[in-house]
Amino acid sequence: MPFDLIVKNVTLPDGRTNLDVACENGRIIAMEPAIKAEARTTIDGRGHLLSPPLVDPHFHLDATLSLGRPRMNVSGTLLEGIGLWGELKPIQTVEEIVERALEYCDLSIAMGIGAIRSHVDVCDDELKGVQALLEVRKQVAPYLDLQLVAFPQDGLFRADGSEENLVRALDMGVDVVGGIPHFERTMQDGARSITVLCELAEKRGLMVDMHCDETDDPMSRHIETLAFETRRLGLQGRVAGSHLTSMHSMDNYYVSKLIPLMAEAELSAIPNPLINIMLQGRHDTYPKRRGMTRVAELKAAGINVAFGSDCVMDPWYSLGRACMLDVAHMGLHVGQLSSRKDMAWCFDAVTKNAARALGLKNYGLEKGCYANFVLFQANDPIEAIRLRANRLAVIRSGKVIARTGRQSCELFLAGRPDSIDPADYAPGHAPKDR
Ligand code: FE2
Repeated sequence: MPFDLIVKNVTLPDGRTNLDVACENGRIIAMEPAIKAEARTTIDGRGHLLSPPLVDPHFHLDATLSLGRPRMNVSGTLLEGIGLWGELKPIQTVEEIVERALEYCDLSIAMGIGAIRSHVDVCDDELKGVQALLEVRKQVAPYLDLQLVAFPQDGLFRADGSEENLVRALDMGVDVVGGIPHFERTMQDGARSITVLCELAEKRGLMVDMHCDETDDPMSRHIETLAFETRRLGLQGRVAGSHLTSMHSMDNYYVSKLIPLMAEAELSAIPNPLINIMLQGRHDTYPKRRGMTRVAELKAAGINVAFGSDCVMDPWYSLGRACMLDVAHMGLHVGQLSSRKDMAWCFDAVTKNAARALGLKNYGLEKGCYANFVLFQANDPIEAIRLRANRLAVIRSGKVIARTGRQSCELFLAGRPDSIDPADYAPGHAPKDR
């Protein structure tokens, strides 16, 4: 019996190379050099990078692709974005949200994303976003793992009815408990919201992912409470703090106490480099803060750090294209993660670290894992980030679900017609014979 699929001659993110990967019944069943068996589909990997799918651990599917509805964010500021979302929420329909989110999921799949954790605003009594994204989760399930977070965007206590709506959203099937402690009216309310939400997660056996301290205020220290409640309630390994931008501005001595507490609670940290660099430091003159959390220090302490994209073409961010390599590229630059080891780690931040934050099972390139992976037009993770490389093939359950043609450019220079393939310019390549 032939295998369902063999991808021949690939390089893995950990550097193993010249491997063939064979798949059967949606699982990886063999990974070795030169597999001789037949397969229904064979792909020549040409030595390129084969990676488990990209994972976006922080997104807002209920707002994505709404740019221009009901009008543009002309100033490009967070404040106008918040105002715009307030205008759009009452007029958008469930059908409209479904349509936009499905369109974004298609784009994500084409860009090699295999899983998304999306926050969904639960601050409207109709729960339109929740209704829509539950439908989307069902429709995309064969191609994309979609995890939903009940997000009280206007504040759990600050907005009337949020607490009840959040519980209703969980009852309807939303997967994860969200929060936004720094947006509550007082520090005390913020801390209290964390206690209430973590207790709710503990009672229901759910994970937690809060927008936490997304501010330049160095005194916004809700992450400390999140670490405390995680440990008190035995939620270790199931809780993530998203953004954590205030850590950029905190006193160093305080941070030296905080990071070990976060490690002890086994929190995941999810900065969103594109959005953090765009929105933070806006009240500064010069020097201007970058606003991204302390990635190097968090990872040095053994904390799981994953990069999220947060927004694409929505009221808060007009750009974006479902490209987790854009996200890794920005995270690498803003975090000054330029050693060879750190650059390669940035690829992990949008693949295996993000999968760990989501608690994805059977993710990875090992025998027995789901046959979900992406073939890039690049030969290693650093090159994939440098080029924001083409996703030549996206495979899900052992089947090709998206293909992109090789990127190359024909040159017409006097007397020497030629073509350029961006993946040829890898370290150590020899200049072509002219
Ligand atoms: Fe967010």
